[in-house]
Amino acid sequence: MPKVTFVNPQGPGSQPLVIDCKKGISILDCAEECGARVGHACGGNLACSTCHVWVHAGIDSLPEVSDKENDIMDKAFDVRPESRLGCQAKLGDDDLVVEITEESLRAWLDENPDERKKLRAQAG
Ligand code: FES
Repeated sequence: MPKVTFVNPQGPGSQPLVIDCKKGISILDCAEECGARVGHACGGNLACSTCHVWVHAGIDSLPEVSDKENDIMDKAFDVRPESRLGCQAKLGDDDLVVEITEESLRAWLDENPDERKKLRAQAG
């Protein structure tokens, strides 16, 4: 079972979170299993780019980026060579190290307004 490490599961400054995930599930599914905040405005239907993550290790074990994923990624901010859409990148055999993009964290908070309120309250 590959391990996935989310380096910023709850946003900037949060402690990394490591989870064992089944091969073949997506990074987004894996995030949902462990509570890491990967946004998914379109519900994983390859239409939004809010699930944009950076894969810092293990990226070669993921399936190739499809033309459609590439098209959708054009809508994302700060696209890098290690960029993938979390709903499309299915785990292979290798462990992954994943950073959630600011765009994706923001989308997650939009989808979870109660958590946004808590953050605001903590910030004072
Ligand atoms: Fe919308 Fe991945 S959740 S493209």
